[in-house]
Amino acid sequence: MKVVLAYSGGLDTSTILLLLRKMYNAEVITVTVDVGQEEELEGVEERAYKLGAVKHYTIDAKKEFAEKYIAPAIKANGLYEDAYPLGTALARPLIAAKVAEIAIKEGADAVAHGCTSKGNDQVRFELTLKALLPEDIEIIAPVRKHMLTRKQSIELLRKYGYDVPSTHSKYSIDENLWTRSIEGGVIDDPAAEPPEDAFAWTVDPSKAPDTPLSLEIGFEKGVPVSINGEKMDLVKLIETLNRLVGFHGYGRIDHIENRVVGLKSREVYEAPAALTLIAAHRDLEKMVLTPRELRFKRLADTVWTDLVYSGLWVEPLRIHLQKFIDSVNEYVTGTVKLKVYKGSLTITGRWSPYSSYSKEVIDYNEGWYPSDEEARGFITLHGLHSLASIKARGLSNLL
Ligand code: ARG
Repeated sequence: MKVVLAYSGGLDTSTILLLLRKMYNAEVITVTVDVGQEEELEGVEERAYKLGAVKHYTIDAKKEFAEKYIAPAIKANGLYEDAYPLGTALARPLIAAKVAEIAIKEGADAVAHGCTSKGNDQVRFELTLKALLPEDIEIIAPVRKHMLTRKQSIELLRKYGYDVPSTHSKYSIDENLWTRSIEGGVIDDPAAEPPEDAFAWTVDPSKAPDTPLSLEIGFEKGVPVSINGEKMDLVKLIETLNRLVGFHGYGRIDHIENRVVGLKSREVYEAPAALTLIAAHRDLEKMVLTPRELRFKRLADTVWTDLVYSGLWVEPLRIHLQKFIDSVNEYVTGTVKLKVYKGSLTITGRWSPYSSYSKEVIDYNEGWYPSDEEARGFITLHGLHSLASIKARGLSNLL
């Protein structure tokens, strides 16, 4: 039996590699997809071969991740339950697609992943895999099937004489360009403040520099293209912002999240670039869009975000909504100015060639004014439905 394993190099997938060989007698091909998980990538290939993989692939998918997954999330202002920038949720369908591609190329009998039965990731992986794999390639989830705990995994690796991966920490970390997610350990207690050692991308805001960081972010058609006038590709732009903004203590998230599998979980994230870019993008949309576009788009954004979170990257509605979101973003071009200071972000200015904002029109002292008659007419018609109804129902006493 030939199995292609989505391999992160961490504790769970290392144990699976061993399990697949010992229990299933499988020939294992490991696939690691680089979506910007800097720390975690070190020594992964070597570990895979040490644990007995017959072949290993490391695929650099950072550019594809940024352009095909993150850019749409920026255009959709994707913050699940108003807080989580979807890092893991966006990376899973991409990783699954790469694994499927290799499984087909290698003529594998099965693909394996390291998800448990309590998380969202099993849903995300498997739905994308099912969409792309022929039916005779099986999907196996050994951690879920054998209900492996982290403790058992460590014991198993030791029993066969292997080192426990050094990436194994007090927390369960999932990292990519867009978000660093921290779960487990003391963080599972929703009342406890996350300890400082949970964070790696952001400085403790109280220890951040005393001078604010001023930035100008340029957008073209809803996608960020420059920082302070310097053009850069999206991968570099995100990496740069993570560093600059994280250094000023901005980008931490602590919230209670409703998982797709019916559980609530306490989630801690670091996402300096994601939060900055979404805040700036939302601001620029307000500068450009009509109020009707803006209000309708918020609904579309929320539905798109919920679909992506819940593993339904494969849902046609996600694709329809993305076309709408792209279309609205055609004119979201311009620049947003902001300041980051000790863990807070403030937008301080914006401009766009496509804005209907007119300083001359809004000026309270001079220039164009609606006449008294025009204003009266507007107010009468604007309130007609409401006033006629409230009077007809005799409800004026409730005002
Ligand atoms: N709750 C997030 C999600 O479902 C992040 C999960 C990341 N996993 C981890 N082991 N930290 O997308």
